[in-house]
Amino acid sequence: MSSTDTGHAKEPLPFPAKEGRFSENAIAELEEIATHYPERKAACLPALWIAQREYGGHLSAAALQEVADHLGLSYTEVEGVATFYSMYNLRKRGRHHLEVCTCLTCAVLGAYEVVHKLENELGVSVGGTTSDGEFTLSEAQCLNYCGAATVVQVGDKYFGQITPENVSLLIDQLRNSTDYTPTKLADSIVKLHLSNASETGGGSHQAEEILNPPAGAML
Ligand code: FES
Repeated sequence: MSSTDTGHAKEPLPFPAKEGRFSENAIAELEEIATHYPERKAACLPALWIAQREYGGHLSAAALQEVADHLGLSYTEVEGVATFYSMYNLRKRGRHHLEVCTCLTCAVLGAYEVVHKLENELGVSVGGTTSDGEFTLSEAQCLNYCGAATVVQVGDKYFGQITPENVSLLIDQLRNSTDYTPTKLADSIVKLHLSNASETGGGSHQAEEILNPPAGAML
């Protein structure tokens, strides 16, 4: 019986091809952020945000390897961190990543009606990306903006008081923008780390926006 038949002595998986996409500026940012930590390995979370931006909004195997190389970590250690936190994208997202809060307050105030309307408008289910690459639809845990329920996070912006009636307006507004929201969110969080030496968690952002309605009422 061969080793393959027994399931033992499997061939190791090949290491991902190195792409080296960190720009000089990105490396300088990482070096600055690393000084905020007692050892550079601890800068894994912000380094992953830098990678998510530099690799176009999601973390490929090459992106994880580049983070590992910069911080002196193993690929497996970086992969373990990246797969633990849902804020990191392990696959490509649409130009706009719509994350609808479906936690208690938003759910009571109609978040699932918003989700179903978005599914119909975009022609995708939760977790899917439109065929034109414009939108990815996800559910999110509480976005800590409950007073504006239902809340939709799109990159580094929050849109509040979203209802089935104004979903089309939100979609049109985003479709007409020039943003690439996954990289914009990553960039805003990298900037947060650069501006705040005590920030260690990642995943929080400051920018908020209430969608302006066409006829006065607050959305
Ligand atoms: S429950 Fe939706 S923002 Fe808190």
